[in-house]
Formats: sequence, structure tokens, C-alpha cells
Amino acid sequence: MESVNNSMDGCDDIQGVLSTEVKSFFDSAPPLKDYDHFSEKLKLFISQNFQRSENQNSTRIVCVTSGGTTVPLEQRCVRYLDNFSSGHRGATSTEYFIKSGYAVIFLYRRGTCQPYSRNLGEETFLEYFEPSKGTEIQVRQSHDEEVKNAVRDYHTAAEKGMLLKLPFTTIFEYLQLLKLVALSMKCIGSGGIFYLAAAASDFFVPWDSMAEHKIQSSGGPLDMRLIPVPKLLSVLRNEWAPSAFYISFKLETDSEILLNKADMALKKYGMHAVVANELTTRKEEVVVVTSNKKITVRRCHQDEDVEKPLIELLIMQHSQYIQQKQLGNAYL
Ligand code: PMT
Repeated sequence: MESVNNSMDGCDDIQGVLSTEVKSFFDSAPPLKDYDHFSEKLKLFISQNFQRSENQNSTRIVCVTSGGTTVPLEQRCVRYLDNFSSGHRGATSTEYFIKSGYAVIFLYRRGTCQPYSRNLGEETFLEYFEPSKGTEIQVRQSHDEEVKNAVRDYHTAAEKGMLLKLPFTTIFEYLQLLKLVALSMKCIGSGGIFYLAAAASDFFVPWDSMAEHKIQSSGGPLDMRLIPVPKLLSVLRNEWAPSAFYISFKLETDSEILLNKADMALKKYGMHAVVANELTTRKEEVVVVTSNKKITVRRCHQDEDVEKPLIELLIMQHSQYIQQKQLGNAYL
């Protein structure tokens, strides 16, 4: 059971331990491949979106995290632990944010659902097409509309420079990328949103104590020590991009504890909203928990995405947040 420390006593100690844990996580993690490449892409994406806006204060960029992270058990990884998440929430939300004029940095787990193609089943993908005259290929009549809509919407978003996709697999890659994105988004101030739908691993094997080669089953039962992944939400919120609007998620399988846990996360990490969802009903309804209310959001129809009303509500809250910030600044 997580506990909330409301007293100021011992806060410095907790901060101290936290920053040591965070520092040692990043110091010992294998360096992110493509760091320079991602960093360049981010710089360009953010500056293009600044230029596209009427003025710097109206730039709206959201970092959507999506999919589960893995924890490798060997450095030359054959086996790993995984966290459940299909990436559907992140991919769907990305589409609605873009539709509302937000540019999206989509931080996603390789191989999970992607914006615009989430409804085109991977396993049946080839059935969407058929050979036509000579060497040509055409979209089957039965799938014509969905394929054309997906292709058109994806290309429109990409051409307008509203979608940047950055992939991760392991918890090491995810947290390094999140840090890079957060530091790059600091300049956007209150126009930035972090929408943290990824299911991040809670425990990991530190890189320097991890076996290098494939662990041999001939060695008998496997003893392995996993340590907690440092909770980076506070660092993200307070240090890396302190003016942004923060939305995190809480997933539980026991509805009895869900709202309580969401409330605790809201207070403990200073989130602006926590979206509480239960595993089996997550595509039908969620509860948005804020400091003064809990709002249940349901899809109206079986064919509708719950993300449609969810993103509408969150954008409204984000706009109020920006207004409050601007009013606050006007009186400084
Ligand atoms: O992908 P789908 O199949 O559509 O499912 C969507 C979902 C159920 C995965 C999604 O809606 C959801 O609930 N995601 C969060 C899952 C979760 O329980 O996360 P968590 O309790 O491990 O973390 C809570 C929050 O802290 C999350 O927003 C997470 O991104 C963030 N976190 C967690 C650990 C960590 N070290 N750093 C973090 O920032």
C-alpha cells in the first residue's frame, strides 16, 4: 500500500533519497541509442510548431506515452518481463488530440497500436488488398473507406508536422526518452501536456547487476533481485517541465481500490488529473479525478471511442489551467 506523506518533516530526506535513486538509475542505464537523432527531431518538431502558432503562448504540444515497458533479464536479452498495454489508449487519444489542434509527441512501445492504423488489424492486414490488372494492387471494396480514411488522416497529420513518433522497448529507453522529451518541452510552458498512458514497469534488474549472457536453465531455480523503478513523476512535474499540465493514469483490476489509488497518485505526484480505469471496462468508461471532483466519462455508443469525450474534457481543463496561469502571471 502506498502512503502519502503530508507532513513536511522528512521531506528533504525523501527528496534526497529520490534524487539519488533517479541519478543512479540514469547513470547505470545503457545509453539510449539514437539519442542525438531523437534530440534533433524533437528540436525541429517543437520549433516548427512554435512557428506554426499565432504566437508562442498559443503553442499546444502534448506528449502521449503509450504501451508497456519491458525489463530485460539479460544484457544480451533473450528473456524479459513485460507490462500489459496494447497501446490502444495512447494511439486513439493521439488522434483526438491532433483533431483538436494539438501537436503530439507519441512515445510508444515498438509493435503496439499506432494512430490511424489501430483499427486495421495487423493479422488480417493483407486481406485489405487484392491484386488487380497486371502488377497493380488495389484496396478491396469492403475495406475501401477505412483504409482511405486511415491513410488520408495519417498523411495530413504528418504533412502538417503534428505527429512525431519516438519508439521504446525497455524501461531504460522509456525513461531516458521521457526525460529528453520533458527537457525539450520545458520551453512550451503551460501549453504543454504530459498524458502518461504508458504502463511503466515497477521493478527492474539494474544493468550493472544483470547477467550478460543468456541465463542457463541447467543452473536450477532462478533467484533474481528486482528493485523498484524510481517514480519519476515528481521529478518530471517539479524539475524537468514544471509549467506543463499533467495527466497520469491509474489502472487496477479491483474497482474497490481504484478511485482511492487515483486520489493518492493525484496528491502524491501533484498531477492535475488522474484518469482511473479498470482493466475490463477501460474501453467503455474512465473516471477523471481532479483535486475538487471526480467525473465519470462514458462512451455513448458501442462504436464510439471513450477517448473522444475524455480528450474533450481534458482539453477543457487544460485551457482553464492556461488561463489561470496567465492571470497569475499578469499579477506578478
Ligand atoms: O494500452 P491499452 O491496452 O489501451 O490500455 C490502456 C492502459 C490501461 C494501459 C492505460 O489506460 C493505463 O491505465 N495506463 C497506466 C497503467 C498504470 O497502472 O500505470 P502505473 O500505475 O504503473 O503508473 C502510474 C502512472 O505513473 C502512469 O501514468 C505511468 O505512465 C507513470 N509512471 C509509472 C512508473 C514510473 N517509474 N514512472 C512513471 O511516470
